Formats: sequence, structure tokens, C-alpha cells
Amino acid sequence: MKRIAVIPGDGIGIEVTREATRVLECVGRLSGVELRLDPFDYGAERYLRTGETLPPGALERLRDYDAILLGALGDPRVPDMKHAADILLGLRFGLDLYVNYRPVRLLDERLCPLKHRKASEVDFVVFRENTEGLYVGMGGNFKRGTPDEVAIQEDINTRKGVERILRHAFEFARARGKTRLVMSDKSNVLTYGHDLWLRVFRQISGEYPGIEARHIYVDALAMQMIKDPSQFQVIVTCNMFGDILTDLGAQLQGGMGLAASANLHPEGSALFEPVHGSAPKYAGRNVANPFGAILTAALLLEHVGLLEQSVLVENAVTACIRSDKTTRDLGGRLGTREVGDAVCAEIESPAGMRG
Ligand code: IPM
Ligand code: MN
Repeated sequence: MKRIAVIPGDGIGIEVTREATRVLECVGRLSGVELRLDPFDYGAERYLRTGETLPPGALERLRDYDAILLGALGDPRVPDMKHAADILLGLRFGLDLYVNYRPVRLLDERLCPLKHRKASEVDFVVFRENTEGLYVGMGGNFKRGTPDEVAIQEDINTRKGVERILRHAFEFARARGKTRLVMSDKSNVLTYGHDLWLRVFRQISGEYPGIEARHIYVDALAMQMIKDPSQFQVIVTCNMFGDILTDLGAQLQGGMGLAASANLHPEGSALFEPVHGSAPKYAGRNVANPFGAILTAALLLEHVGLLEQSVLVENAVTACIRSDKTTRDLGGRLGTREVGDAVCAEIESPAGMRG
């Protein structure tokens, strides 16, 4: 049995997570694997009602699960997004989920905004450091609100933190037979923090002779990702750059509605969330694209050791996209719910198997 904590969150997160969990139930049923899905109501509603974001003991409870599935957080009734930062960053930091794994894969060439790109030419993964950098919230405002205000936001890079994410990316490349790895930073300007990245990268890359290790400044990488995405297999970078580059990557694969991600501690907990946000203006209208959440559920299946089931889900999504069983953002005519139905139907009886 696999135990999965489900945090639907806010906005469209609730709707897309519903479809992702239906898909999980469907593969579980079909393959005879028991997946126990326990709901957790962390999100805006609960915060507004109780004032609590992550309640006491939440981390300890969540640690007991094989995986956590999160929808998205963000609600216009909480304009400063306090609950979202507390919950999402609270889980990333609290569970020390230092690996943010974001695959960028084009499932159908029609979805790529670049001209003349085959699906096989957009297929890489981004490893984003997930517990340090500009995200740690160190700093402050001096003379706040006055013309003399000073704002400081520290960029924290530790040798341990840099080394563990770089090693993880190299190990992933080695395990998956990838021969090219790019580390991206801004060490020409960030001459202390990112110089650390570059030094550790040079040191570690020597230990992986079979992998061509390239260093590219982040501005050049953004340009190269558009110019020729086929050159990339594995990209590793800091928290903030990874955040930005993976939105760019999401567009290369067809939009935010398709991008999946995992937050991992390789020996600890794992939290899975689509890259997109809670999109309040689309909430409750059955229009949100659930593929990102469903592909995120596929990553979760793979992580808990159900590789075959994960491939089944991914193939079902690809089949739906190719036959235009999609929401409007991808040019289709279906609602969130109906796309979920189509994916489940595809899993139960793959098109290739039908008479
Ligand atoms: C993401 C999101 C988050 C981030 C926000 C919601 C804090 O953009 O997961 O990419 O910046 O990490
Ligand atoms: Mn982001």
C-alpha cells in the first residue's frame, strides 16, 4: 500500500487535484495497487477560518506519507499570499526538500510555440535548488516607507546546499544515461555566492567523466533555451533562476497547464505540485487544464516505485492531447472534469488496444 497526502489547496488547484486523484484511483484499481489518499485542508479557506497556515504538527504528520500531492495555493482574499508562502515554502524548507525537479517535455509538436520543432527536440529536466538562495527570507527594511528606505534581501548559498543539488543532478544524469549537463548561474556578477556554485561545479564535474559538463550564464541560457532547446538534457541552477527558467520551460512544452514538478529530499519526503498557480479567475468554472496535475501524479507514481503505472498515465495524457481531448488553452473543447474522464478512459482502454 502507498499512502499519499493530498492538499488540494486553492482556486483551480482544487479542481485539477480532483482529476489527478481520480486518475490515481483509476490506475490503482486497474493495477491492483492500493493507493490510500488522505485529504488535508491546508489553504486559504482554513487560514481565513482559523488563522492557521501549516498547523502545529503538520510536518510530522506529513512525514509519514510516501508522497504528498499539492494543488496550488493563492487566493485573492489573502492579498499578501501569506498562507501560500507559509505552506508551500514551509513544506519545502521544513521537510528539507532540496531538489526541485521539473521535467520539460513536449508531448505533441503542435503545442510548441517555437517554429519547426519536433516533440523529441524539447526533452530536458531542470533541477532547481529548493531550500536556499533568495528564497530564505533573510533581510529587512530600514526606514520603511520613507524616501530613505533601504531594502535588503540576502542571497544565501552554502557549500553543502550547492554541492548536494549539483551531485543530485549529476547522479540523475548518470542513472538515466544522459551525457550532457548544464549548470547555470550569474557568477560574472554574483562574485561571491555564485562563484561558490562555479567552484563546486568544477570540482564535482571531474568526478563524472562520462558527462559533458557545461557552464552557461543564466541570461545566455534563457536565450539558448529558445534558440535551440534540443541541446539540453539536464540543467541545474539556483532557486530563483530555476523558478524563472521553468516558467520558460513550461511554455516550450505547451504552457503552464502542462508542467509538472516534484520537490524531493532523496532520502526523505516528496511533495508533488504542478508548476502553475491557483488562477483565481478561472476557479470553479471547469475550464482549468488538469494535465499539469495529472502529469505531476505520474511523477508521484514513479517516485513511489510504480513506474509502469506512471508510464500508463503519461501515455494516456499524450493520447488525449493527440486526439484533441483537451481544454480550451490547448485548443480543445473539453472541461476540466471531461479531460479527467478522457484520461481515465484512455488508461482503462488505450486507443492503440481498441479494435
Ligand atoms: C513555483 C512558484 C513558487 C516559487 C511561489 C508560489 C512561491 O512560483 O513553485 O514556481 O516561486 O517557488
Ligand atoms: Mn514559479
